[in-house]
Amino acid sequence: MASGQNQNQTARPKLLEVFDLRAYFDTRRGLLRAVDGISFSVAPGQILGLAGESGCGKTTVGLSLMRLLPPGGRIAGGVIRYRGQDVLRMPLRQVRRIRWKEIAMIFQGAMNALNPVRSVREQTADAIVLHDGVPPAQAYRRVAELFELVGIPQGRASEYPHEFSGGMRQRVMIAMALACGPKVVIADEPTTALDVMVQAQILELLRDLQGRLGLSLVVISHDLAFLAELCDHILVMYAGKLVESGPVDALFRAPKHPYTQCLVSAIPRIRGPRVALRPIPGDPPDLTQPLRGCYFRDRCPAAIAECGEAEPQPRPVMAGHLAACHLYPREGP
Ligand SMILES: Nc1ncnc2c1ncn2[C@@H]1O[C@H](COP(=O)(O)OP(=O)(O)OP(=O)(O)O)[C@@H](O)[C@H]1O
Ligand SMILES: [Mg+2]
Repeated sequence: MASGQNQNQTARPKLLEVFDLRAYFDTRRGLLRAVDGISFSVAPGQILGLAGESGCGKTTVGLSLMRLLPPGGRIAGGVIRYRGQDVLRMPLRQVRRIRWKEIAMIFQGAMNALNPVRSVREQTADAIVLHDGVPPAQAYRRVAELFELVGIPQGRASEYPHEFSGGMRQRVMIAMALACGPKVVIADEPTTALDVMVQAQILELLRDLQGRLGLSLVVISHDLAFLAELCDHILVMYAGKLVESGPVDALFRAPKHPYTQCLVSAIPRIRGPRVALRPIPGDPPDLTQPLRGCYFRDRCPAAIAECGEAEPQPRPVMAGHLAACHLYPREGP
């Protein structure tokens, strides 16, 4: 697990603060509440993990932080502050001064969508020219520095994406994200679809870059074991809501929310006694339908009557550790 893993959400000054973020999509089936009232913060140098099953809203949170929701998506409420500046209410030209230069994102699956007819050096330089407005010669010099930083040998810079393995393509994406010297990097499923050895190399690279550049990382993954290795603090989302937030060791040693407990018990263990993995029965709810109470209650092994009546709000269960669950009504730090 990461060093500094006990640093919690309240101990350090904040770089990025998110309050009650709501991001909705207009769909043919109606309004879909992809992110529905999420609050968290990111401190300088912190590695924050965002976990949860497919469709729970992780990518939508990342894209909202960049103000890059796709057509049909919109931020319906809440506040995002970067260094005290209100990102959601600032004009677009001011957003462009922050996007890529202060907050950058490695998009989910983008390493599979690199331009097949431009070398990796050319397209990284293209991204730098586009985002930083520098002349091409300067962009190419920057590419050389970035490739060195992320471990792409100079001799391979003129190759095309199809000549690169998945791990090397992901290094290109990381280089592009770092191009304008951001302070915060959002990495959306950075190791999904990579084999286990390559996953470990990318994890090591992210950890190394965080240390060398003093970055803050927001790492999005459905792979809790990967997040456990890398992060200081984990947020767990379910159906657009935050269900638990805690320091990584506490969250894995003693998860509080039944959903997190189910996710943690589903992590395969190489060492220790063999235990049967228990998938979580049922599916997440349809986010276009009105919901009442706790969104997890139909799948929850510990549901009580109150879960059908009122929506549980995140509240402290230990210092720096929140859970949104009626099982913890009065406990405090
Ligand atoms: N462009 C879109 N238009 C309509 N609905 C969308 C769009 N993008 C996402 N959604 C919906 O928003 C919800 C959250 O999606 P999101 O991609 O943020 O989840 P995720 O946690 O990143 O999932 P995954 O692990 O599969 O990447 C889902 O119900 C999804 O179907
Ligand atoms: Mg996603």
